[in-house]
Amino acid sequence: MTNIVLQTKDLTKVFGSHKAVDSVNITAYEGEVFGFLGPNGAGKTTTLGMALGLIHPTSGEVSVLGEQVTPNHTHALKNVGALLGAPAFVPYLSAWDNLELVAHLTPGVDKKRIAEVLELVGLTDAARRRVGKFSTGMKQRVGLAMALVHRPQFVILDEPTNGLDPAGMREIRQLLRSLVGNGTSVLLSSHLLNEVQQVCDRIAVLNKGRVVAQGRVDDLLNAQKPTVRLTVSAPSEAAQLLRALPGVEDVHPNGAGSLIVTGVDSQTVMNHLIHNNIIPTEIISQKSDLESLFMDVTNAN
Ligand SMILES: Nc1ncnc2c1ncn2[C@@H]1O[C@H](COP(=O)(O)OP(=O)(O)OP(=O)(O)O)[C@@H](O)[C@H]1O
Ligand SMILES: [Mg+2]
Repeated sequence: MTNIVLQTKDLTKVFGSHKAVDSVNITAYEGEVFGFLGPNGAGKTTTLGMALGLIHPTSGEVSVLGEQVTPNHTHALKNVGALLGAPAFVPYLSAWDNLELVAHLTPGVDKKRIAEVLELVGLTDAARRRVGKFSTGMKQRVGLAMALVHRPQFVILDEPTNGLDPAGMREIRQLLRSLVGNGTSVLLSSHLLNEVQQVCDRIAVLNKGRVVAQGRVDDLLNAQKPTVRLTVSAPSEAAQLLRALPGVEDVHPNGAGSLIVTGVDSQTVMNHLIHNNIIPTEIISQKSDLESLFMDVTNAN
Protein backbone atom coordinates (compact mmCIF):
# COMPACT_ATOMS: atom_id res chain seq x y z
CA MET A 1 0.00 0.00 0.00
CA THR A 2 1.23 3.48 -0.80
CA ASN A 3 2.15 5.54 2.21
CA ILE A 4 0.40 8.80 2.93
CA VAL A 5 2.70 11.83 3.30
CA LEU A 6 0.06 14.38 4.21
CA GLN A 7 -3.51 14.01 5.35
CA THR A 8 -6.00 16.46 6.77
CA LYS A 9 -9.23 15.53 8.55
CA ASP A 10 -11.91 18.21 8.61
CA LEU A 11 -9.14 20.75 8.99
CA THR A 12 -10.61 24.17 9.76
CA LYS A 13 -9.20 27.61 10.52
CA VAL A 14 -11.36 30.56 11.46
CA PHE A 15 -9.90 34.07 11.57
CA GLY A 16 -12.39 36.26 13.46
CA SER A 17 -15.65 35.45 11.73
CA HIS A 18 -13.99 34.32 8.49
CA LYS A 19 -13.59 30.60 7.75
CA ALA A 20 -10.32 30.65 5.81
CA VAL A 21 -10.11 26.82 5.77
CA ASP A 22 -13.39 24.94 6.03
CA SER A 23 -13.43 21.18 6.84
CA VAL A 24 -10.65 20.35 4.41
CA ASN A 25 -9.90 16.68 3.71
CA ILE A 26 -6.94 16.10 1.46
CA THR A 27 -4.55 13.17 1.07
CA ALA A 28 -1.17 13.26 -0.63
CA TYR A 29 0.73 10.02 -1.26
CA GLU A 30 4.37 9.06 -1.26
CA GLY A 31 6.05 9.26 -4.65
CA GLU A 32 3.79 11.84 -6.22
CA VAL A 33 3.72 15.54 -6.95
CA PHE A 34 0.48 16.66 -5.35
CA GLY A 35 -0.89 19.98 -6.60
CA PHE A 36 -2.78 22.28 -4.30
CA LEU A 37 -4.71 24.71 -6.45
CA GLY A 38 -7.00 27.59 -5.80
CA PRO A 39 -7.63 31.25 -6.51
CA ASN A 40 -6.15 34.02 -4.33
CA GLY A 41 -7.48 33.82 -0.79
CA ALA A 42 -8.73 30.22 -1.18
CA GLY A 43 -6.88 29.10 1.96
CA LYS A 44 -3.85 27.30 0.49
CA THR A 45 -1.18 29.03 2.56
CA THR A 46 -3.27 28.77 5.74
CA THR A 47 -3.68 25.00 5.19
CA LEU A 48 0.04 24.55 4.56
CA GLY A 49 0.82 26.74 7.59
CA MET A 50 -1.17 24.28 9.74
CA ALA A 51 0.64 21.32 8.13
CA LEU A 52 3.94 22.96 9.07
CA GLY A 53 2.95 23.66 12.67
CA LEU A 54 2.95 27.43 12.16
CA ILE A 55 -0.79 27.97 12.66
CA HIS A 56 -3.10 26.41 15.26
CA PRO A 57 -6.08 24.72 13.61
CA THR A 58 -9.45 25.89 14.96
CA SER A 59 -10.64 22.29 14.61
CA GLY A 60 -9.73 19.14 12.73
CA GLU A 61 -6.33 17.54 12.29
CA VAL A 62 -3.37 17.40 9.99
CA SER A 63 -0.75 14.68 9.88
CA VAL A 64 2.51 14.62 8.00
CA LEU A 65 4.50 11.43 7.35
CA GLY A 66 2.05 9.58 9.55
CA GLU A 67 2.30 11.85 12.60
CA GLN A 68 -0.09 14.54 13.73
CA VAL A 69 1.35 18.06 13.53
CA THR A 70 0.41 20.97 15.81
CA PRO A 71 2.47 24.01 16.79
CA ASN A 72 3.37 22.06 19.96
CA HIS A 73 4.18 18.83 18.17
CA THR A 74 6.39 19.19 15.12
CA HIS A 75 8.44 15.99 15.38
CA ALA A 76 7.43 14.78 11.90
CA LEU A 77 8.73 17.96 10.32
CA LYS A 78 12.40 17.04 10.70
CA ASN A 79 12.00 14.97 7.54
CA VAL A 80 10.14 17.73 5.72
CA GLY A 81 11.46 20.61 3.64
CA ALA A 82 9.34 23.70 3.11
CA LEU A 83 9.19 26.93 1.21
CA LEU A 84 6.32 29.06 2.46
CA GLY A 85 6.28 32.77 1.68
CA ALA A 86 9.48 34.73 1.13
CA PRO A 87 12.58 32.53 1.63
CA ALA A 88 14.27 33.17 4.99
CA PHE A 89 17.92 33.83 4.09
CA VAL A 90 20.52 36.27 5.36
CA PRO A 91 20.79 38.87 2.57
CA TYR A 92 24.40 39.95 3.17
CA LEU A 93 25.68 36.36 3.01
CA SER A 94 26.33 34.38 -0.17
CA ALA A 95 24.11 31.49 -1.26
CA TRP A 96 26.83 29.09 -0.11
CA ASP A 97 27.15 30.71 3.33
CA ASN A 98 23.39 30.72 3.81
CA LEU A 99 23.38 26.98 3.17
CA GLU A 100 26.34 26.51 5.53
CA LEU A 101 24.25 28.21 8.23
CA VAL A 102 21.49 25.69 7.66
CA ALA A 103 24.08 22.89 7.54
CA HIS A 104 25.36 23.83 11.02
CA LEU A 105 21.89 23.18 12.39
CA THR A 106 21.34 19.96 10.49
CA PRO A 107 23.15 16.70 11.08
CA GLY A 108 24.54 15.01 8.01
CA VAL A 109 24.81 18.04 5.73
CA ASP A 110 28.38 18.50 4.54
CA LYS A 111 30.04 20.70 1.90
CA LYS A 112 29.49 18.05 -0.74
CA ARG A 113 25.74 18.15 -0.11
CA ILE A 114 25.73 21.98 -0.25
CA ALA A 115 27.47 21.89 -3.64
CA GLU A 116 25.05 19.21 -4.80
CA VAL A 117 21.92 21.10 -3.82
CA LEU A 118 23.18 24.37 -5.33
CA GLU A 119 23.75 22.48 -8.57
CA LEU A 120 20.27 21.00 -8.33
CA VAL A 121 18.63 24.46 -8.16
CA GLY A 122 20.96 25.95 -10.80
CA LEU A 123 22.94 28.27 -8.54
CA THR A 124 26.44 26.81 -8.84
CA ASP A 125 27.84 29.81 -10.72
CA ALA A 126 26.25 32.34 -8.37
CA ALA A 127 27.05 30.39 -5.16
CA ARG A 128 29.56 32.92 -3.83
CA ARG A 129 27.51 36.03 -4.54
CA ARG A 130 25.43 37.84 -1.91
CA VAL A 131 21.85 36.66 -1.89
CA GLY A 132 20.53 40.20 -1.20
CA LYS A 133 21.66 41.19 -4.70
CA PHE A 134 19.95 38.24 -6.40
CA SER A 135 16.91 38.54 -8.68
CA THR A 136 13.56 37.37 -7.29
CA GLY A 137 13.85 34.09 -9.17
CA MET A 138 17.35 33.44 -7.85
CA LYS A 139 16.20 34.19 -4.29
CA GLN A 140 13.42 31.67 -4.80
CA ARG A 141 16.04 29.08 -5.81
CA VAL A 142 18.01 29.80 -2.62
CA GLY A 143 14.80 29.13 -0.70
CA LEU A 144 14.38 25.86 -2.57
CA ALA A 145 17.98 24.86 -1.87
CA MET A 146 17.43 25.59 1.85
CA ALA A 147 14.28 23.46 1.78
CA LEU A 148 16.09 20.55 0.12
CA VAL A 149 19.56 20.56 1.66
CA HIS A 150 18.77 18.07 4.46
CA ARG A 151 17.39 15.51 1.96
CA PRO A 152 13.80 15.66 3.20
CA GLN A 153 11.41 12.80 2.49
CA PHE A 154 8.66 15.26 1.69
CA VAL A 155 8.75 18.87 0.50
CA ILE A 156 5.96 21.41 0.82
CA LEU A 157 6.34 24.29 -1.60
CA ASP A 158 3.94 27.24 -1.56
CA GLU A 159 4.07 28.95 -4.97
CA PRO A 160 7.73 28.02 -5.57
CA THR A 161 7.89 29.48 -9.07
CA ASN A 162 6.90 32.98 -7.98
CA GLY A 163 9.12 35.45 -9.76
CA LEU A 164 10.63 32.89 -12.13
CA ASP A 165 10.61 33.38 -15.90
CA PRO A 166 9.25 30.59 -18.15
CA ALA A 167 12.67 28.95 -18.51
CA GLY A 168 13.17 29.05 -14.74
CA MET A 169 9.72 27.60 -14.21
CA ARG A 170 10.50 24.73 -16.55
CA GLU A 171 13.73 24.03 -14.68
CA ILE A 172 11.83 23.90 -11.40
CA ARG A 173 9.26 21.53 -12.90
CA GLN A 174 12.08 19.26 -14.04
CA LEU A 175 13.65 19.54 -10.61
CA LEU A 176 10.39 18.50 -8.93
CA ARG A 177 10.05 15.49 -11.23
CA SER A 178 13.64 14.48 -10.54
CA LEU A 179 13.02 14.78 -6.79
CA VAL A 180 10.10 12.39 -7.13
CA GLY A 181 12.27 10.10 -9.25
CA ASN A 182 14.71 9.99 -6.35
CA GLY A 183 12.05 9.11 -3.79
CA THR A 184 11.06 12.54 -2.43
CA SER A 185 7.36 13.37 -2.35
CA VAL A 186 6.25 16.87 -3.26
CA LEU A 187 3.28 19.07 -2.43
CA LEU A 188 3.16 22.09 -4.68
CA SER A 189 0.71 24.90 -4.21
CA SER A 190 0.13 27.11 -7.19
CA HIS A 191 -2.45 29.12 -9.06
CA LEU A 192 -0.60 28.52 -12.34
CA LEU A 193 -2.81 25.88 -13.92
CA ASN A 194 -0.52 25.11 -16.78
CA GLU A 195 2.33 24.45 -14.39
CA VAL A 196 0.21 22.16 -12.26
CA GLN A 197 -1.14 20.27 -15.25
CA GLN A 198 2.38 19.60 -16.47
CA VAL A 199 3.97 18.46 -13.25
CA CYS A 200 1.34 17.07 -10.85
CA ASP A 201 0.03 13.53 -10.56
CA ARG A 202 -2.92 14.37 -8.35
CA ILE A 203 -4.49 17.66 -7.30
CA ALA A 204 -6.93 19.19 -4.87
CA VAL A 205 -8.71 22.39 -5.82
CA LEU A 206 -9.61 24.72 -2.99
CA ASN A 207 -12.15 27.52 -3.26
CA LYS A 208 -13.27 29.77 -0.40
CA GLY A 209 -11.70 27.40 2.08
CA ARG A 210 -13.37 24.24 0.77
CA VAL A 211 -12.10 21.38 -1.39
CA VAL A 212 -14.13 21.48 -4.61
CA ALA A 213 -12.26 18.79 -6.58
CA GLN A 214 -9.62 16.20 -5.79
CA GLY A 215 -8.11 13.33 -7.73
CA ARG A 216 -5.76 12.30 -10.50
CA VAL A 217 -5.31 15.09 -13.04
CA ASP A 218 -6.15 12.68 -15.91
CA ASP A 219 -9.31 11.41 -14.22
CA LEU A 220 -10.54 14.91 -13.40
CA LEU A 221 -9.96 16.04 -16.97
CA ASN A 222 -11.61 12.94 -18.46
CA ALA A 223 -14.65 13.54 -16.27
CA GLN A 224 -15.07 16.99 -17.82
CA LYS A 225 -18.04 17.48 -20.13
CA PRO A 226 -17.13 17.31 -23.82
CA THR A 227 -17.07 20.68 -25.55
CA VAL A 228 -17.31 21.30 -29.29
CA ARG A 229 -16.70 24.52 -31.19
CA LEU A 230 -18.23 24.82 -34.64
CA THR A 231 -18.73 27.37 -37.38
CA VAL A 232 -21.88 27.35 -39.53
CA SER A 233 -23.48 29.75 -41.99
CA ALA A 234 -26.79 29.77 -40.07
CA PRO A 235 -25.77 29.82 -36.39
CA SER A 236 -29.14 30.65 -34.84
CA GLU A 237 -30.86 27.84 -36.73
CA ALA A 238 -28.07 25.44 -35.81
CA ALA A 239 -28.22 26.55 -32.16
CA GLN A 240 -31.95 25.88 -32.04
CA LEU A 241 -31.49 22.39 -33.51
CA LEU A 242 -28.63 21.57 -31.16
CA ARG A 243 -30.53 22.71 -28.05
CA ALA A 244 -33.11 20.05 -28.88
CA LEU A 245 -30.47 17.31 -29.17
CA PRO A 246 -30.49 14.91 -26.18
CA GLY A 247 -27.36 15.27 -24.03
CA VAL A 248 -26.67 18.87 -25.00
CA GLU A 249 -26.30 20.96 -21.87
CA ASP A 250 -25.49 24.34 -23.31
CA VAL A 251 -25.16 26.08 -26.66
CA HIS A 252 -23.83 29.57 -26.79
CA PRO A 253 -22.55 31.89 -29.54
CA ASN A 254 -18.82 32.46 -29.73
CA GLY A 255 -18.35 35.27 -32.24
CA ALA A 256 -19.47 35.47 -35.87
CA GLY A 257 -21.00 32.20 -37.08
CA SER A 258 -19.40 30.23 -34.27
CA LEU A 259 -21.05 28.20 -31.49
CA ILE A 260 -19.82 26.39 -28.40
CA VAL A 261 -21.74 23.23 -27.52
CA THR A 262 -21.24 21.34 -24.26
CA GLY A 263 -22.45 17.90 -23.23
CA VAL A 264 -22.00 15.92 -26.46
CA ASP A 265 -19.03 15.03 -28.66
CA SER A 266 -18.19 16.42 -32.09
CA GLN A 267 -19.42 13.34 -34.00
CA THR A 268 -22.87 13.60 -32.41
CA VAL A 269 -23.04 17.33 -33.24
CA MET A 270 -21.92 16.66 -36.81
CA ASN A 271 -24.42 13.84 -37.40
CA HIS A 272 -27.32 15.87 -36.06
CA LEU A 273 -26.51 18.92 -38.17
CA ILE A 274 -25.97 16.96 -41.38
CA HIS A 275 -29.19 15.08 -40.76
CA ASN A 276 -30.87 18.50 -40.73
CA ASN A 277 -29.06 19.69 -43.86
CA ILE A 278 -26.64 22.02 -42.12
CA ILE A 279 -23.00 21.49 -43.01
CA PRO A 280 -20.55 23.07 -40.56
CA THR A 281 -17.54 24.73 -42.19
CA GLU A 282 -15.45 23.94 -39.13
CA ILE A 283 -15.90 21.66 -36.13
CA ILE A 284 -13.36 21.21 -33.35
CA SER A 285 -13.41 19.13 -30.17
CA GLN A 286 -12.07 21.35 -27.44
CA LYS A 287 -9.52 19.55 -25.34
CA SER A 288 -10.47 19.83 -21.71
CA ASP A 289 -7.71 21.37 -19.69
CA LEU A 290 -7.20 22.30 -16.11
CA GLU A 291 -8.27 25.86 -16.79
CA SER A 292 -11.79 24.85 -17.79
CA LEU A 293 -11.98 22.39 -14.89
CA PHE A 294 -10.79 25.11 -12.53
CA MET A 295 -13.30 27.65 -13.84
CA ASP A 296 -16.03 25.02 -13.58
CA VAL A 297 -15.37 23.99 -10.00
CA THR A 298 -14.55 27.44 -8.66
CA ASN A 299 -17.49 29.19 -10.35
CA ALA A 300 -20.00 26.55 -9.37
CA ASN A 301 -19.23 27.01 -5.69
N1 LIG B 1 -3.50 35.87 9.92
C1 LIG B 1 -4.67 36.10 9.31
N2 LIG B 1 -5.62 36.84 9.88
C2 LIG B 1 -6.81 37.06 9.28
N3 LIG B 1 -7.14 36.57 8.06
C3 LIG B 1 -6.22 35.82 7.43
C4 LIG B 1 -4.93 35.54 8.00
N4 LIG B 1 -4.24 34.78 7.14
C5 LIG B 1 -5.04 34.57 6.08
N5 LIG B 1 -6.23 35.20 6.25
C6 LIG B 1 -7.37 35.17 5.31
O1 LIG B 1 -7.67 33.82 5.07
C7 LIG B 1 -8.04 33.62 3.69
C8 LIG B 1 -7.14 32.58 3.08
O2 LIG B 1 -5.84 33.10 2.93
P1 LIG B 1 -4.62 32.27 2.36
O3 LIG B 1 -3.42 33.14 2.44
O4 LIG B 1 -4.55 30.97 3.05
O5 LIG B 1 -5.06 32.04 0.85
P2 LIG B 1 -4.19 31.50 -0.39
O6 LIG B 1 -5.02 30.45 -1.04
O7 LIG B 1 -2.83 31.12 0.06
O8 LIG B 1 -4.15 32.76 -1.35
P3 LIG B 1 -2.96 33.28 -2.35
O9 LIG B 1 -3.13 32.53 -3.64
O10 LIG B 1 -3.31 34.72 -2.53
O11 LIG B 1 -1.65 33.06 -1.69
C9 LIG B 1 -7.95 34.99 3.04
O12 LIG B 1 -9.24 35.55 3.01
C10 LIG B 1 -7.03 35.76 3.96
O13 LIG B 1 -7.32 37.13 3.90
MG1 LIG C 1 -0.94 31.77 -0.44
